[in-house]
Amino acid sequence: MSRVFNFSAGPAALPVEVLEQLRDEMLDWHGQGMSVMEMSHRGKAFVGIAEQAEADLRELLAVPANYKVLFLQGGATAQFAAIPFNLTTPDSVADYVNTGAWSKKAIAEAKRYCKVNVAADAGGKYSSVPARDGWQLTSSAAYLHYTPNETIGGVEFPFIPDVGDVPLVADFSSTILSRPLDVSRFGVIYAGAQKNIGPAGLVVVIVREDLLGRARPDTPTVFDWKAMAADGSMLNTPATYSWYVAGAVFQWIKRQGGLVAMERLNRAKAERLYAAIDGSGYYRNPVAKDARSWMNVPFTLPDEALDKPFLDGAKAAGLVALAGHRSVGGMRASIYNAMPMAGVDALVEFMKEFQRKHG
Ligand SMILES: Cc1ncc(COP(=O)(O)O)c(C=O)c1O
Repeated sequence: MSRVFNFSAGPAALPVEVLEQLRDEMLDWHGQGMSVMEMSHRGKAFVGIAEQAEADLRELLAVPANYKVLFLQGGATAQFAAIPFNLTTPDSVADYVNTGAWSKKAIAEAKRYCKVNVAADAGGKYSSVPARDGWQLTSSAAYLHYTPNETIGGVEFPFIPDVGDVPLVADFSSTILSRPLDVSRFGVIYAGAQKNIGPAGLVVVIVREDLLGRARPDTPTVFDWKAMAADGSMLNTPATYSWYVAGAVFQWIKRQGGLVAMERLNRAKAERLYAAIDGSGYYRNPVAKDARSWMNVPFTLPDEALDKPFLDGAKAAGLVALAGHRSVGGMRASIYNAMPMAGVDALVEFMKEFQRKHG
């Protein structure tokens, strides 16, 4: 068996230890004689798995007691619609900050259901975060939505915005669990699983209890956070296997030393890669230094004609999924929690070698 260093933006690499655990437990989970995939979600075994996963996530993020944690389906995209369904009427105004491709998708979806005010727009090439003091906020906004980490642009907020009493709603899909987070600053945190949590399809929603119960009467039941919370995210059959994998990942993070340890590792990985890019005089990252993502590092070569030889050479060296998003081109190295320092070291070595040959 040979494993590559997988720099995919998502679905992304999972820790090998977790994959080995899943393999070992595949046919017979803890003497039950069946895989977790085959268990009833209402049975004692799965309910235990689900409760443990929630408890571990709460512990990792120090989620305050007045927040519900939901394990839902439909990915982060389903929440682009669920958010306005749960928090607005058709006449409400919701504020959105636009810092790139994922903000735009969230905005486009919200516009179908309520009035949207784009409070700030990073504009142009989306390579920075607009300073908080220039935002045009709506005083009675139903919420303010932002994307703490733009997975495609590699732009990450260096601050949590203060918007007073307006609930802060944040799409943490590509940065959740990368470091400690003050959950109490948020009304709603949501994150698609396929980067730092587990398999695609699952979305984790952390919602402050006072925001439950505002859903429109026509809210599809599976989108209704209050109804889901009342049923322990089991109003219908949940994504049981994904939930179980997420739980295994949470336990792995705890074994690594929790989010403080993740922060140390992720900071070191990002610093190493950005230093290699900036110091090369060859590779380039377009993002403002204070807004550079720790998780998604886009970079370009001096000439697009070199992209294919770079990707081919990287693949031959066991470094895969480095092509930038189809909308922006160039390269992108996603270095989520499961990417070890050895993967970043191998990438940096390959980049130096490529530059020696082609620079
Ligand atoms: C920041 C961000 N938001 C939302 C999504 C959409 O997630 P999903 O495809 O799971 O709906 C992604 C997907 O990669 C993402 O990176």
